[in-house]
Amino acid sequence: MSDIALDEKTVFNLGPLTQIPVGEGRAFHVGGREVAVFRTRAGELFAVQARCPHKGGPLADGILGGKDIQCPLHGIAFDLSTGRPIGAECSALARFRVELSASEEVLLHASRPGVDLPQWPCGGPPPLPQLRSERGARGE
Ligand code: FES
Repeated sequence: MSDIALDEKTVFNLGPLTQIPVGEGRAFHVGGREVAVFRTRAGELFAVQARCPHKGGPLADGILGGKDIQCPLHGIAFDLSTGRPIGAECSALARFRVELSASEEVLLHASRPGVDLPQWPCGGPPPLPQLRSERGARGE
């Protein structure tokens, strides 16, 4: 895993595109957080949080199919273009804008423009309070 030092810039140069093989992902430390950058077989780049929101699986080691990444630990898949889980109740991935420089270096924007969903832990929102047991505890 590469380690990029934090500075005041909002764009980080992660180095040459060639370090990310086609159809794979690589994880980087960027500004104090872990980011996974994926290079699809169609030539697109996507950058998301490196750790799966389920139980922290290393997404860069997952299976990339089209724009979907499947976590290597328990198999939850995410659409990299939206960050949303596919067929599972789970938090969406934080996404980062990523582009190539004129010299084919990977430029990552540190802002998080893609975070637009409620951040529930996997399994859905927390349960509502149990009103019946509360009444029982008060002797009603
Ligand atoms: S840690 Fe990713 S699916 Fe469980």
